[in-house]
Amino acid sequence: MRDYYRGKRVVVTGGASGLGRAFALGMAEAGAAQVVVADLDAGEGEAVCRELEARGAQARCITCDVADADAVEALASTSRDWMGRIDLAFNNAGVASGGDFLDIPPADWRWLLDINLLGVVNGCRSFGRIMLAQGGGHLVNTGSLAAFGAMPGMALYNVSKAGVVMLSETLRAELAPQRVRVSVICPSFVRTNLYQRTRVATPALQGITRMALEGNPVTPERIAASALRQIARNRLYVMPTWDARLVRHVRRFFPGTMIAATARLRPRLQRRIERLAARRGY
Ligand SMILES: NC(=O)c1ccc[n+]([C@@H]2O[C@H](COP(=O)([O-])OP(=O)(O)OC[C@H]3O[C@@H](n4cnc5c(N)ncnc54)[C@H](O)[C@@H]3O)[C@@H](O)[C@H]2O)c1
Repeated sequence: MRDYYRGKRVVVTGGASGLGRAFALGMAEAGAAQVVVADLDAGEGEAVCRELEARGAQARCITCDVADADAVEALASTSRDWMGRIDLAFNNAGVASGGDFLDIPPADWRWLLDINLLGVVNGCRSFGRIMLAQGGGHLVNTGSLAAFGAMPGMALYNVSKAGVVMLSETLRAELAPQRVRVSVICPSFVRTNLYQRTRVATPALQGITRMALEGNPVTPERIAASALRQIARNRLYVMPTWDARLVRHVRRFFPGTMIAATARLRPRLQRRIERLAARRGY
């Protein structure tokens, strides 16, 4: 795996926190030469740059809103000018939403799709053009198990991540002849700071959502270690945990059964998880 990242020049959006930070640090530990941390949060981004430098990589933080296509274009060209090329681009920045479909206001759909889906579209376009021009590269998009799970109370997030998976599948086929690789990472719940950027439209789901993100034993470092190994092997679907692999396969072979079972089990399961979340103080 180390061979794949040694000497590489990489950009990570959402690199100031959680999974993005862990991907960036993991690549620096594997020998990446230069890393651009792109994020809305410049303070945390600079702190991650110091951690990257301590691991031997040159690092630079660029403030960027991935929902803004012009800002992503500027990010890509500034990164290319600084590093000379872009070997890997992680389109990872994202936010989350919880809530039953009928509770989600239209403004939340625009807000989340602009970041989670169009942010990845913007990155694939701007970094993809540079990779085509330089004769190769690797686009790595952060999807989610949500793209396969169809979990109730997460319609908006599920739709955004299903779009990221479909975009990645399509680009994988389009760009392979030009030696641009495409992978999509699909983790299940991970303990990150994502809850701080989550809009929960159904109050009953607040405690559960917070527990799933803040109280989760799975760390971003664990996900990054597994994901970076699979990316180095040029996997399209990067499924870092066993539950993500299981859900993807069940969904693939028994989609109707899975959704019917979810509908049947939801009320009982939700009550139980709500009680657990309340007991744990979420
Ligand atoms: N935490 C989970 O359980 C989980 C599971 C599956 C997928 N994901 C996905 O992983 C990705 C990273 O999330 P995380 O869990 O590490 O959360 P996080 O909140 O810890 O990190 C997300 C980073 O993205 C940045 N960001 C948010 N909006 C941005 C924007 N418009 N432009 C630029 N930067 C922006 C934030 O400032 C933050 O630094 C997201 O795409 C998320 O949907 C998370």
